[in-house]
Amino acid sequence: MVDLHTDWLGLRLRSPLVVGASPLTRTVEDALRLSDAGAGAVVLASVFEEQIVAEQLGMHRFIDSHVDTDAEARSFLPDTDVVPIGPAPTLRRLQALRAALDIPVVASLNGITPGGWTDLARQLADAGADALELNLYEPPTTLQATSAEIETRQIDTVAAVVAAASGIPVTVKLSPFYAGLPAFAAHLAAAGAAGLVLFNRFYQPDIDLDTLDVDRRLTPSTSAELPLRLHALAVLHGHVGLQLGATGGVHTGLDAAKAILCGATTVQLVSALLDDGPAALARITRELTGWLDAHHYRSSHDACGATDLSNVADPTAWERLNYARILESWQPARTRR
Ligand SMILES: Cc1cc2nc3c(=O)[nH]c(=O)nc-3n(C[C@H](O)[C@H](O)[C@H](O)COP(=O)(O)O)c2cc1C
Repeated sequence: MVDLHTDWLGLRLRSPLVVGASPLTRTVEDALRLSDAGAGAVVLASVFEEQIVAEQLGMHRFIDSHVDTDAEARSFLPDTDVVPIGPAPTLRRLQALRAALDIPVVASLNGITPGGWTDLARQLADAGADALELNLYEPPTTLQATSAEIETRQIDTVAAVVAAASGIPVTVKLSPFYAGLPAFAAHLAAAGAAGLVLFNRFYQPDIDLDTLDVDRRLTPSTSAELPLRLHALAVLHGHVGLQLGATGGVHTGLDAAKAILCGATTVQLVSALLDDGPAALARITRELTGWLDAHHYRSSHDACGATDLSNVADPTAWERLNYARILESWQPARTRR
């Protein structure tokens, strides 16, 4: 029998499969169904820095300051009535979930500047969060801020959230767009982060060519998004003192197995569960257990990091060589067998 238990951020989870930040845990009933299907933990939808620092009037002022800069500018900005103001609903939901569930409940913050709003970390800890996930979602848009300045501010933000979090562990959810990801990860560890979650899926608005408006539909991920995560996990595992979680593109137990082999202690699921509900979690658990068993792993812990890059003497040279080999191996369709 394969043991799926895993230790994540000082928490003992019965499974590495975690429900990622999303509306999936909006109600206690939904969360209980996911727990019954085998979830190791749940992460709540994020509270945004903007919800805390901007009173409703301030939010309007921020948005209105941009609306005249371009004829279509308003359509690129969020509608103020879809951005909820204040953390009270999340604190209430957290308390209700904490009372109902016997698996860890992780609260999520989305913010990018150190400041008074980070006191929310303390409120979430006081309301019963077992850990915090801080999402550093920040698509750069100005010529003024250099990468170094952005990263320094983000590291300061992590330190501020860790300081406010009353001792509960903080894991940081990143985008893939850091030129020096390993060094940045090491700075986050020094700032007190306990883990990393890789990677954010950037909201990717398309343009509707008929209306010239932004097409804001959120499309679910596919397994094709996983390799980007696998690569980063394999690079980081064993090199930074951070526990690694995967998010993005996990739809099968085999996807989850790959993430674990590359070094993920936990594997978050959202699109798969939005598509198929708790049954998908039960299926992915079965498939993961089946794969581990068939490959003689007694536990997911034993498999964690088995294919990381820690045994490669010069990972950069190895990566460049592999890239060159992949390019060389391409053949025109008519010569492919
Ligand atoms: C409807 C929806 C809502 C989401 N809300 C949040 C959120 O509040 N905070 C967050 O960090 N990520 C949020 N995400 C991103 C997911 O947590 C996850 O990182 C992303 O969907 C990639 O995982 P997947 O391929 O399993 O969907 C959301 C995703 C979806 C689809």
